[in-house]
Amino acid sequence: MEKVNIRHSIFRTLLLSMVVLFSFSQTSYSQEDSGTADAAVEESDSGASGAEGDVAAGKELFNSLCAACHKPYKKATGPALHGVSDRHDRQWLYEWIKNSAAMIASGDDAAVKIYEEYNQTPMNAFPQLSHEDIDNILAYVEQPKPEPVQVAGGDAQVDAGGGYGSGVSTNVVLGILAFVLLLLTVILVLVNKTLNRFAEVNGVPIVASEKRKPIWKAFVENQFLVLVSSVFLLLVGAYFVYGFFMQVGVDQGYAPVQPIHYSHRIHAGDNQIECKYCHSSARVSKTSGVPSLNVCMNCHKSVSEVAPETATEDYTKDFYDGEISKLYDAVGWDTETQSYTGEEKPVKWVRIHNLPDFAYFNHSQHVSVAGIACQECHGPVEEMEIMRQEAPLTMGWCINCHRETKVKVEGNKYYDKIHEELSKKYGVETLTAAQMGALECGKCHY
Ligand code: HEC
Ligand code: HEC
Ligand code: HEC
Ligand code: HEC
Ligand code: HEC
Ligand code: HEC
Repeated sequence: MEKVNIRHSIFRTLLLSMVVLFSFSQTSYSQEDSGTADAAVEESDSGASGAEGDVAAGKELFNSLCAACHKPYKKATGPALHGVSDRHDRQWLYEWIKNSAAMIASGDDAAVKIYEEYNQTPMNAFPQLSHEDIDNILAYVEQPKPEPVQVAGGDAQVDAGGGYGSGVSTNVVLGILAFVLLLLTVILVLVNKTLNRFAEVNGVPIVASEKRKPIWKAFVENQFLVLVSSVFLLLVGAYFVYGFFMQVGVDQGYAPVQPIHYSHRIHAGDNQIECKYCHSSARVSKTSGVPSLNVCMNCHKSVSEVAPETATEDYTKDFYDGEISKLYDAVGWDTETQSYTGEEKPVKWVRIHNLPDFAYFNHSQHVSVAGIACQECHGPVEEMEIMRQEAPLTMGWCINCHRETKVKVEGNKYYDKIHEELSKKYGVETLTAAQMGALECGKCHY
């Protein structure tokens, strides 16, 4: 009778745990659901901020005609236009925008004053704009400034919502697993107890296991096993030691933090700026070099902030704008007066690729003569938010490519003769760099 009782209690425990498990998974699902629902609500909230028709038309006009010199909320070549309707009446604005030069010439006080304030920089005339066009533009610039903090906060909240949901569900899964393990242990203990009691009731004697030789003693006494395992350990050790030494001085993947967070993804990727615009000496010299900051200022005199769409999950717009202001600090550019202060603080870029001094590598030979794309050696640079060393830069890496890559001879008079002779010698149509001598020690070692 007792036996049956115990079976019942085990069965009950199992049933109970099933119920608990089931309810647990239910709560985790419903939590995720409510998380996404919150996110959806927030999204629709932030999307609701008004988009009247004239504002959209005004934005288009502003971007095509005025954005070269004006920003809505910041001083550029011309003043920030937000609030301009408070500074001048509508009629004045119509006249000014259509032909500011005429207004200055006529001696209008306000016009002359602003003209002097901006060092007599002339503004274009826009006689083609109708009053309605100008109203649209003004409607656009007079929109209240979007709060960047709010936007970032909204994003973060949506993120946090997603993260919260997934975090809970992994926690719940782990919790369930731990719970199941605990349950199994309990069941085992119970089963063991039952069996023991069963044996006791039936009078079966329980034999205590006899004392056996410990396993390590048995191992030490078996010489063959000892020999085999020592050889095995030595081989594994040698493998790792060799691997370790081959890594010495190899900095593949090295991605240091730079003084300015300069993103190749944004410049070379999104904005499609040619590598050689900045690394101009790659074409003609041994080194590629890093551009001087006046190259940056060709664009950044007018690009003082990134577009809101440029912000990513990892980097906010505020972060990127802060990095651009580091550039301004370094070159001594005052955004208020739009002029150089003369106070320069050179940026100390951290060098990433660096061959040892005894190896010779020449960019122009590979880029201009061989016509190899930067990406073959430097990887998908246009996708890198942070620059890193993609290739190992070992001797084996150079040699492998020289063995595999054909020399580009077309259109290169210099190679005509040598190609003719060497291709006869090797009996091939096209030569590899190696066949042309790019494996000779002296070509790469001083
Ligand atoms: C070539 C550069 C340039 C362009 C393009 C330009 N502006 Fe200007 N704008 C200026 C400058 C510079 C001033 C400051 C006055 C001066 O020096 O003439 C100014 C002044 C103004 C002012 C007076 C602001 C104040 O605070 O008093 C208004 C309004 C204005 N611009 C509107 C526009 C609009 C609208 C457009 C586009 C349709 C436009 N501007 C295009 C350069 C420009
Ligand atoms: C707008 C200018 C600009 C453009 C365009 C640009 N770079 Fe750069 N590049 C830089 C700056 C600044 C650095 C130094 C900061 C850094 O390492 O991130 C750099 C660093 C590098 C480095 C590492 C240098 C080192 O220290 O070893 C490589 C490699 C490189 N660029 C390759 C490329 C390639 C390939 C492209 C085209 C796909 C490209 N760059 C486009 C400005 C530019
Ligand atoms: C050909 C034009 C051009 C040149 C040259 C250029 N930039 Fe930019 N840069 C841009 C534009 C455009 C953006 C904004 C992109 C956006 O809004 O999506 C930007 C954004 C940035 C940002 C913020 C995003 C980021 O990458 O972190 C920094 C910092 C920056 N530039 C630094 C530099 C530095 C340093 C140089 C010189 C080595 C340089 N830029 C050269 C056009 C240029
Ligand atoms: C055949 C492989 C190869 C190609 C192709 C190549 N590079 Fe390099 N690059 C290297 C090596 C190797 C180094 C390290 C050179 C050193 O330390 O002397 C390097 C270094 C650099 C550096 C660091 C500064 C310097 O000059 O030492 C920059 C920047 C750079 N490369 C940009 C470029 C750009 C831009 C292109 C395309 C126009 C390009 N590279 C094409 C192999 C290559
Ligand atoms: C992506 C393939 C590639 C890689 C990687 C590469 N090279 Fe080359 N290299 C070539 C090609 C192709 C040529 C032949 C260029 C020509 O037409 O003269 C060449 C030529 C050379 C030459 C001139 C050889 C001669 O016969 O005059 C030297 C020196 C050289 N490479 C050094 C290096 C070094 C050092 C490295 C490693 C740091 C390296 N290369 C990595 C493709 C590569
Ligand atoms: C295609 C170019 C190239 C050729 C050809 C070449 N080397 Fe190298 N060698 C290198 C580079 C690059 C390194 C630096 C590798 C590193 O830093 O890991 C190097 C490194 C070495 C080292 C230092 C050990 C090491 O791995 O760092 C020795 C020794 C060496 N080379 C000997 C030779 C000899 C001998 C020859 C002729 C049989 C030769 N090299 C031909 C490019 C070359």
